[in-house]
Amino acid sequence: MNEQGLYILTISVHGLIRGRSPELGRDPDTGGQVLYVLDFVKALARNPQVAQVDLLTRLVEDPRVDKDYTEPEEWLAPGARILRLPFGPRRYIRKESLWGHLDSLVDRFLHHAKQLPRLPDIIHSHYADAGYVAQRLSSLLGIPFIHCGHSLGQCKRATLLKGGGNPDHLEKVFHFERRIQEEEAVLSRAQAVVASTRHEISEQYGRYVRFRPDRAVVIPPGTDLLRFSPPRGRSPESPIASKVDRFLVKPGKPLILCICRPEPSKNVLGLIRAYGEDEGLREETNLLLVVGNHEDIRGLDDTSRGTWEDILHLLDRYDLFGSVAIPKTHEPQDIPEFYRLAAQRKGVYVDPAYTESFGLTLIEAAASGLPVVATSNGGPRDIVANCRNGLLVDVADPKDIGAAIREALSDSGRWAQWSRNGLRGVRNTYTWEAHVNRYLKALARILRREEKRRRKALRHFEPSAGSRRFLHAQQILISDLDATLLGDADSLSELMAWVRSTPDLVFGVATGRKAGNALRMLQQWGVPTPDVLISGVGSEIRYGATGAIDSGWEHHICQGWRREELSRILSAVPGLRLQNHRKQGPYKLSYLVNPWRMPGIGRLRELLHGAGLQANLIYSQGRLLDVLPQRASKGQAIRYLAFKWGLPLNRFLVAGDSGNDRDMLEGDVLGIVVGNHSPEVEPLRGRPRVYFASRPFAGGILEGLRHYHLRFRVPELLTGTHS
Ligand code: GLC
Ligand code: MG
Repeated sequence: MNEQGLYILTISVHGLIRGRSPELGRDPDTGGQVLYVLDFVKALARNPQVAQVDLLTRLVEDPRVDKDYTEPEEWLAPGARILRLPFGPRRYIRKESLWGHLDSLVDRFLHHAKQLPRLPDIIHSHYADAGYVAQRLSSLLGIPFIHCGHSLGQCKRATLLKGGGNPDHLEKVFHFERRIQEEEAVLSRAQAVVASTRHEISEQYGRYVRFRPDRAVVIPPGTDLLRFSPPRGRSPESPIASKVDRFLVKPGKPLILCICRPEPSKNVLGLIRAYGEDEGLREETNLLLVVGNHEDIRGLDDTSRGTWEDILHLLDRYDLFGSVAIPKTHEPQDIPEFYRLAAQRKGVYVDPAYTESFGLTLIEAAASGLPVVATSNGGPRDIVANCRNGLLVDVADPKDIGAAIREALSDSGRWAQWSRNGLRGVRNTYTWEAHVNRYLKALARILRREEKRRRKALRHFEPSAGSRRFLHAQQILISDLDATLLGDADSLSELMAWVRSTPDLVFGVATGRKAGNALRMLQQWGVPTPDVLISGVGSEIRYGATGAIDSGWEHHICQGWRREELSRILSAVPGLRLQNHRKQGPYKLSYLVNPWRMPGIGRLRELLHGAGLQANLIYSQGRLLDVLPQRASKGQAIRYLAFKWGLPLNRFLVAGDSGNDRDMLEGDVLGIVVGNHSPEVEPLRGRPRVYFASRPFAGGILEGLRHYHLRFRVPELLTGTHS
């Protein structure tokens, strides 16, 4: 890998992704996004500023899908490859079922990262699932991340509900709650969010409370210009003409073209009315409608059939036979020809949709040298502003559509100007090369900002001591303190005997208590100082007897932490009372909660967001609330240790009992939940790597060690006589 250039990690988790003949449209998860990501990655790699692009996705082993998806690596072009890592079940599963497995992908990548010649400069995620992974990798590896939503849960849910969907059923199928919650988190943390249009920002991302509009960058996707090009000079008319002209009495007239699916929102009926009611247009132009393919209208689904019936009814009502061409079938290669024919006949492309999120057909028209009249609602606004190749129209009234078309065709000099503008606009804005240029500019800004922040952090860096045991560790036991390690003296001493007799073991404690307080408790129970102490709910890491602080961790978590302001805002929230001042820390604010009076965690998050603040809120035992830096938690601390010391997470045995232990029990570690656990950890039951012990306290940990003894080296002491 070229040392100078950028190394970019893109993540697109779901669907089936391969470079050789991608199976677009094979299923709902393998469509536009897959094409976008492949094109984007290849275009990135062509840019000289870029050394390497990795596209991280899922490795799938399933007889129902092609063998290609079992390849760990596929090169797309020099400097661009697909990287497939296995996680979760081997078989192909739909994206809605991936949520529970994404932590494993994070961990798989951490392992993979140890073999990389260097870490990526930036992570770029596509869709909410990848956003989740990117956000975690970003926080663990200290790499900034960029996100692109592609489609958003809020919008999809709203559309389905509007279509009469049952909320409970939709939730079961699509897991919107989880998706939207993760989208909120991703949008609040991404260093930049890439959108295709301004409309997408205001109408889609704008629905998210934690979205930060100042971090949004509008970069339209590229289109395939090889397929679409203007008619050349005086070249004879395209062979498609015969397919069109058989409908028309006077074929030579300017051709109004509209290409869309048979769907009411596309408002092709509005266009037919506009044409039918406008004497002048009917006199001087022909209309070409390309509305999907069908053999028999009665064989179509309800929506398409309804649209077609309405179309035919209108053609009849206005008696438009002879001036409207409406082929019932076409081949994919006909599409560019339709545009070219309309351009050759000095016509216009019309997009009459009520709203259009992007407006791909307008780009295709522009690339064919065909001026446009487009709905003013949505993406087309950007397109017409960038290309200056036509008019926007409020499509609510067909009369206005008709007037705009007439206006667009009224001046041949301006028509030619628009045609040229469209060609240039597409080249400058809507090619993948243009996309990559803008993208790299945005990226350079982000990296400069990050570099400044990193330099500042380095000035305070002091290397940590007392942590050498990690270098040779084969296994790591990390236990929560209260109600997990401590509680029963007999089983505790049995456990500590095992700890002492296992030479290559790192023994750690992860607790909500502050370090000093935790060490005193341990002393009282006769437990020697652990090799590593994660204290204050993950807000601090110290090593061994020297108590050396891991300042890397501190610098990692301090970002975005505004303690004063958080404390001020939270002081006004009913049902929250600060815990004793000794329980507070520089990176920890802890409260006692009156659950009947407190407004709920979701509301609290909104409140903080509204005030421009970020924090990780952890609720335990139904009565304790910890407010931590966004990157701090027991689970994140463990992942940081694993990465920092190059230890696979499946060497970590982690034990806990309550809410603040939850995130350290998830993912690739081997988890033990002791018998006396509180209800917040109950949702972990059934996970393959979380063992629910029946014995309480250290006895539960011992039981867990026995359970895992095949994977985790446990001496006979534990597997034999005592069980
Ligand atoms: C410990 C801490 C307390 C925290 C709780 C839950 O009891 O002392 O501050 O709120 O753990 O994490
Ligand atoms: Mg506990």
